[in-house]
Amino acid sequence: MLEDITRAIAQSEVRDGVIWLLMNVPGLPPILQSVHIIAVAVLIGTVGLTHLRILGFAIWNQSPSTLISRYRPWLGWTIGVAFLSGIAFVIARPARYFLNPVAGWKLGFFLVAIALTVFLFRREAQRPGAWRDVIWATRGLSLVAVVAWIGVIFAGRWIAYVDYLYWDE
Ligand code: HEM
Repeated sequence: MLEDITRAIAQSEVRDGVIWLLMNVPGLPPILQSVHIIAVAVLIGTVGLTHLRILGFAIWNQSPSTLISRYRPWLGWTIGVAFLSGIAFVIARPARYFLNPVAGWKLGFFLVAIALTVFLFRREAQRPGAWRDVIWATRGLSLVAVVAWIGVIFAGRWIAYVDYLYWDE
């Protein structure tokens, strides 16, 4: 199935347009990658720190409820910007991503991280103070979310170095 998706993207006209943009708009590839990294930094500086607060490691002078209501909008914005700044490269070189196991790990970690974060943030928005209910369970979910977000970051970087994991002379 991944081969089919790769083939469909590789043969699409959208891909020709994206490659043209990446090659002809001066500096576009590094600009997009810089925007991607800035989005990741903002995500970790807002959502990541909120998880660390729930775990009791950071920002003790503000409650998780305050941090969640303050940073909830940033979750959508940063993921949206990360998606838009990353998708051009996926369309331009689909085989590099769809046939790369590390890109699969990134997607897997991402789905876990986003599902747990959305669950915790939404529950808090619906019922302020809910994070305290069964504190060890909330902390457990936050811990898994933090590990998963770190996994997304490591896998994002390792996509480029997959050859060193699966050496094929
Ligand atoms: C939402 C959809 C996303 C898409 C489509 C996407 C796509 C990409 C692409 C195409 C690359 C370049 C990989 C390469 O060829 O070397 C990349 C790199 C990277 N991504 Fe993402 N990404 C997304 C979300 C995220 C998120 C949420 C994070 C972190 C929380 C993240 C962290 C990274 C990191 C750390 C790199 C390495 C960048 C570098 O060192 O230059 N990405 N991503």
